[in-house]
Amino acid sequence: MQNQHTQSQQTKLIEIFNQHFDKQPQIVCAPGRVNLIGEHTDYNGGFVLPCAINYQTLIAFTPRNDNRVVAIAADYGNQRDEFDISEPIAMNDQQFWSNYVRGVVDVMTKQYSLTSGVNMVISGNVPQGAGLSSSAALEVAVAKVISEVNDRNIEPKTLALIGQQAENEFVGCQCGIMDQLISACGEQQNALLIDCRNLETRAISMPKDTAVLIVNSNVKRGLVDSEYNTRRQQCEAAAKHFNVELLRDVSVETFEADKGGLDDVIMRRAMHVIYENQRTLDAADALVSGDLKTMGRLMRESHLSMKNDFEITTSEIDLLVDLINNQLGEQGGARMTGGGFGGCVVALLPQHLVPVVCDVIEASYHTATGLKESIYLCSAEDGVRLI
Ligand code: GLA
Repeated sequence: MQNQHTQSQQTKLIEIFNQHFDKQPQIVCAPGRVNLIGEHTDYNGGFVLPCAINYQTLIAFTPRNDNRVVAIAADYGNQRDEFDISEPIAMNDQQFWSNYVRGVVDVMTKQYSLTSGVNMVISGNVPQGAGLSSSAALEVAVAKVISEVNDRNIEPKTLALIGQQAENEFVGCQCGIMDQLISACGEQQNALLIDCRNLETRAISMPKDTAVLIVNSNVKRGLVDSEYNTRRQQCEAAAKHFNVELLRDVSVETFEADKGGLDDVIMRRAMHVIYENQRTLDAADALVSGDLKTMGRLMRESHLSMKNDFEITTSEIDLLVDLINNQLGEQGGARMTGGGFGGCVVALLPQHLVPVVCDVIEASYHTATGLKESIYLCSAEDGVRLI
């Protein structure tokens, strides 16, 4: 199912493509994501429960007869980047958006013998810098385009790994696998329980009449990369204490029995991850049985853990979460979603409560913070695809 949004985005994209290139393009669509629960667990080999959303990156493309990659960014005043797949690919210091394209192509040229260049026009409506994975959507979309023009039938999980590798090694952000994997493998009307150690996924159907509401705090995210990397190091230090490679291998029971001797900060970081893994498994069960009350409780606990122990929320985000949770009571729940330090809150709630929750936010958030929220009503969508 496509929404109105996609169709107008698509029409505009084809128009721009036709202004720059002469053949009729194909279009790849890769979605952003919202994580329902399981935060900062992916790089610890743990569990996450995201769904792909109806906000996406679209790329219109045609193959070329030579080795050139020509990319135009419709959302950046049609800025153009051009490079050759048969030569070493360097960072582009002028147009940062292009490094996601360059990074993916760089990874792929090293793994596959690519023969065909490509013309592409890129446009996205995933809010940027909001923790909804606009960059993962771009990486996965580019990987799919390169796979198509080179007649490689690369499976979605591999596309995700290519995107993550580009982000880790080319762009220089040490992210886990969640964002790219859900953008590649998402399923309509389902969230995916992902085991980030072996990348096995299990589709978890979203309860009927339940809304996925995303509220962007519009807090400017600062220090995200450095704080993210610090959290990773703290988790590694905790894993060392428990004598395991990944915190995933520490159960709640082992943690409680053996946490003595851990530095207080490291202890709280580990506590978040270890309990969050368990909460994520419990959340998948709750969703399967349509138990929104339990799901809501787990989301509230997850948020408190991110606030007090992992320390990645901000006062504005905490306020949004409180406003929504106070309004919902036991009829759903809200938590911060994504890497942290700003970005978005996700709420699961009965459809009929959406208007009253929006009213409460509109009445208080701006007055208290001076910021204006953006609200998105989302649905769970398929992962990367040709449309
Ligand atoms: C970012 C990263 C993901 C994940 C989340 C936190 O979105 O890209 O890999 O670690 O933060 O859950």
